Amino acid sequence: MKMIVTGGAGFIGSAVIRYLIKAHPDVTVINVDKLTYAGNLESLRDIEEHPNYHFEQVDICNAQEIERIFNQYRPDAIMHLAAESHVDRSIDGPAEFIQTNIAGTYILLEAAKQFWLGLDDKARAAFRFHHVSTDEVYGSLGKEGLFTETSTYKPNSPYSASKASSDHLVRAWHKTYGLPIVLTNCSNNYGPYQFPEKLIPLVALNALAGKPLPIYGKGDQIRDWLYVDDHARALYRVLTQGKIGETYNIGGHNEKQNIEVVKTICHILDELVPSHPAGVQAYADLITYVADRPGHDQRYAIDADKIKRDLDWVPEETFETGMKKTIQWYLDNSDWCERVQSGKYQQERLGLNV
Ligand SMILES: NC(=O)c1ccc[n+]([C@@H]2O[C@H](COP(=O)([O-])OP(=O)(O)OC[C@H]3O[C@@H](n4cnc5c(N)ncnc54)[C@H](O)[C@@H]3O)[C@@H](O)[C@H]2O)c1
Repeated sequence: MKMIVTGGAGFIGSAVIRYLIKAHPDVTVINVDKLTYAGNLESLRDIEEHPNYHFEQVDICNAQEIERIFNQYRPDAIMHLAAESHVDRSIDGPAEFIQTNIAGTYILLEAAKQFWLGLDDKARAAFRFHHVSTDEVYGSLGKEGLFTETSTYKPNSPYSASKASSDHLVRAWHKTYGLPIVLTNCSNNYGPYQFPEKLIPLVALNALAGKPLPIYGKGDQIRDWLYVDDHARALYRVLTQGKIGETYNIGGHNEKQNIEVVKTICHILDELVPSHPAGVQAYADLITYVADRPGHDQRYAIDADKIKRDLDWVPEETFETGMKKTIQWYLDNSDWCERVQSGKYQQERLGLNV
């Protein structure tokens, strides 16, 4: 199988590519990535020389280049992950989110449709467009309940609204033109190679440097956490075995308050790096409550029964095992962390410019 993966230099995309190249020798991957601040080819160093791996530095909004890539590689499938993905950035500057997440998805859908229409019957039936999305499109839950595949879309941030729009476009290209799509909506991912602006790496790196650990509001917001390699396996399962036109929710059954997540990181670090920075007895002493994110969703929780029932997928990592692996990885890869942060982003607070 020849697969285009968009956003393959990002956090989840690179996990998907490492998994495909290592676990599925019959798959050839074409990574299409613009390399924004969040994209880093170092995350693919293990596999970059592999004959089944190709890289194209291309913006998904560039219709001509996307058409060339379809015609040159003649893929059997496309898994679309490229996106602007950080909620705080979407508050300060939504334009890039509208451009990449909505217009970029439209460009890919049109190019995929034209290519797919030109295939013979057998190849046309086998082709797949897999759109990778988030549980944030469903909005915020109260104390009870779970998001299912039929939950109403109620996005609250510019990021989630742009992802919701892209989900609707993908569904429409299926219903109107018959493009064979599958769609997945996943909960919060964590694991190695995540850009240090996101909660878990940010807290781990700040703690090690003796810097404050910012908790938005009271820290009582609840997220469901999934280890990134479990997500990668789920995506491949849906792409290869999912039913055309269907949505699958992916989650880890790990609902945690943000403050619990931060305290877990601190406890793991207390064990692994007992030589605390000067003046710090325990890493949790660095916890600092800061202004909440505007429009902050209170709770996300995923009902992942459909993918378990229909495709026999369940996560392999628990929150405890996944978190230990993750923190250990950040400790072992401080050079990666330094290099990806050597650009403009210096762990400053974003997302208050309303
Ligand atoms: N991180 C999560 O917890 C999570 C959860 C559910 C769904 N998702 C979705 O999964 C996908 C990947 O998320 P991530 O956390 O890996 O994101 P990321 O920000 O780490 O990576 C995004 C990648 O897309 C690339 N990119 C951005 N704009 C592009 C453009 N115009 N053209 C080509 N490439 C471009 C970037 O260079 C980067 O490599 C996104 O679609 C996101 O909405 C993420």
